[in-house]
Amino acid sequence: MNNKLIAAFAAATFVSQFASASPKEIKLPQETATYKASTLPGYNLALQNCMICHSAQYVSTQPPTSSRAYWDATVKKMKKPFGAPLKDENIEPIVDYLVKTYGAEAQNTVKDPARPSTAGMSK
Ligand code: HEC
Repeated sequence: MNNKLIAAFAAATFVSQFASASPKEIKLPQETATYKASTLPGYNLALQNCMICHSAQYVSTQPPTSSRAYWDATVKKMKKPFGAPLKDENIEPIVDYLVKTYGAEAQNTVKDPARPSTAGMSK
């Protein structure tokens, strides 16, 4: 193959890729890959601690009826035996975020995001 032909082929490939991949079409699957944004302190903690081994999909596919006790047990299980490098003081805020965003207490945050966190006050 001569150099001109290679250059022409490369240019054609480049142009066709450019034409077919408009930037607007490149979209990450936000719904499942990452955690739902929240003003609760556990949101950032989840981003930092819960995406080391798997995406947020395991969390978002849990039943919406999951209780605080369920999330507490699940987060503790990630630490031991699964080995998540979680600080003990971060477990409660993460559980609070999860139960209010994905679990049984979800309605509170969805309907009234301005409501202050009642971490540790309920039940
Ligand atoms: C050290 C790696 C690791 C980290 C960090 C981690 N997980 Fe997991 N997680 C796992 C493994 C392993 C499984 C089980 C996967 C399987 O069964 O296929 C799992 C499964 C899950 C499941 C599915 C339900 C279940 O009980 O198996 C949920 C929900 C979950 N993780 C939430 C979290 C949350 C929330 C965090 C942050 C606090 C977190 N994970 C951090 C390793 C981790």
